[in-house]
Amino acid sequence: MIDFKNVTKEYGKDTAAVKNVSLHISAGEFVTIVGQSGTGKTTLAKLMIAEERPTRGSIVIGGWDITHIRHYEIPVLRRQMGVIYQDFKLLQKKKVFENVAFASEVSGTPSKKIHKIVPQVLKIVGLEKQVDKFPRQLSGGEQQRVAIARSLVHRPKIILADEPTGNLDSINAQDIINLLLKINKFGTTVVLVTHNHDIVNSLRKRVITMDHGMIISDQKHGKYIL
Ligand SMILES: Nc1ncnc2c1ncn2[C@@H]1O[C@H](COP(=O)(O)OP(=O)(O)O)[C@@H](O)[C@H]1O
Ligand SMILES: [Mg+2]
Repeated sequence: MIDFKNVTKEYGKDTAAVKNVSLHISAGEFVTIVGQSGTGKTTLAKLMIAEERPTRGSIVIGGWDITHIRHYEIPVLRRQMGVIYQDFKLLQKKKVFENVAFASEVSGTPSKKIHKIVPQVLKIVGLEKQVDKFPRQLSGGEQQRVAIARSLVHRPKIILADEPTGNLDSINAQDIINLLLKINKFGTTVVLVTHNHDIVNSLRKRVITMDHGMIISDQKHGKYIL
């Protein structure tokens, strides 16, 4: 599902954020990526969604070589991937329904279809009763669940979550992880970037550890080793 071959990303001369990374993630896997701040985790995530281009090496996502992806093809790629961020990135002036529906509206999905799918994804994240609230009326955990609902609208093959629990307390954090596990059980590949030792250690899923832009360990049922 995700294939990196000798991928290097340099932002400027002598600043390689990702160094010669080769990585294979199969369909349906739940993978966590850990490592200290500045070790290249977010850059790796950005390369997966073509928000950054590799300086060297090649990247294949779902059989599609995106190494030299064209600008107009990026939205097609993004529809196959749901992305979740630490700061939720919700539209503050729009209600929950609109936040979830927005991307579909922009891409021209028929209104009837939107009105069918939005309640479905809100139900998956347990927010079907909050459709008319604004983000500021929700807790951090609820806001992140809205972001997850939004990421599910296009039924992505991959969910990429970069520090999704970074702004949440431990109970809300665990809720979000449980939700990602549930989504993974439906068959969606999940890539979770996190700092949270407790979460990583309790998951017992594959753990990829990064340091200085390189993968220094890749364990099948891993623990946080740093
Ligand atoms: N847009 C950018 N321009 C220049 N340097 C960057 C940029 N983004 C990240 N970096 C640098 O690349 C390295 C890896 O950053 P990042 O991928 O954000 O790491 P992490 O997510 O593990 O904290 C850091 O040294 C960071 O300063
Ligand atoms: Mg980061």
